[in-house]
Amino acid sequence: MNEAALLVLHSEGRYSLNAKNRTDGIELLASVNDGCISTAFFDPQYRGVLDKLKYGNEGKSRGRARSALPQMDDATITSFVIEINRVLKQSGHLFLWVDKFHLCQGVLDWFLGTELNIVDMIVWDKGKIGMGYRTRRRSEYLIVFQKSPVRAKACWTDHAIPDVWEERAEKVHPHSKPIELQKRLIAATTKEGDFVLDPAAGGYSVLRACRELNRNFIGCDIVYGEDEDEDEDESEE
Ligand SMILES: C[S@@+](CC[C@H](N)C(=O)[O-])C[C@H]1O[C@@H](n2cnc3c(N)ncnc32)[C@H](O)[C@@H]1O
Repeated sequence: MNEAALLVLHSEGRYSLNAKNRTDGIELLASVNDGCISTAFFDPQYRGVLDKLKYGNEGKSRGRARSALPQMDDATITSFVIEINRVLKQSGHLFLWVDKFHLCQGVLDWFLGTELNIVDMIVWDKGKIGMGYRTRRRSEYLIVFQKSPVRAKACWTDHAIPDVWEERAEKVHPHSKPIELQKRLIAATTKEGDFVLDPAAGGYSVLRACRELNRNFIGCDIVYGEDEDEDEDESEE
């Protein structure tokens, strides 16, 4: 392992920094050292919304790619949150992606007993309209948590980010998230060389943002990674 990897990982060369590790996020997190992550993104594969909406097309055409992904129940999401709480630095940030259902239902049960506090929220306007029995969805939400102690000075350097952000995401995954927004947030909350975590990385939009900003990425997905892109030299190892 190189010097940077040793700062963040304590297992014997099993995972790579700045690479697409294909593994369970809970297993990868178990190899991450305490308090070494400046900023984390967590974009769970929610089961709740499919249970709630029941469009009846899971496994068919439009729903196939989405419903084929492994779902996360509340207990799994809580396990991720406990580990993210452990690996974040003091005053480090967690950006949690939620849909309308989870925003309204509340997410705080997942955070009981952690040092993670809600400090802000951003609405992502996807710039295109989706499904909905009443109104049709055009937005998703990013809840901003900060590990104690809560402070903005020196921990968040860009004060021009609007709390409604319009961006069309490049579709490399059924749930691709907007790179430019994530870049702005990483730049605001980290410095060059800092470590950014994404333990359910999907299409690896956070990895791409980190590469463009010279931040170190540690992350994985249980379905996507490694041998999909063997032709790209992604590992620093
Ligand atoms: C909502 S998507 C993430 C999309 C990503 N933010 C992007 O911009 O492409 C959630 C991902 O979690 C992955 N996943 C589900 N269970 C997982 C687990 N236990 N460990 C790691 N990844 C998991 C799924 O395979 C899916 O790709």
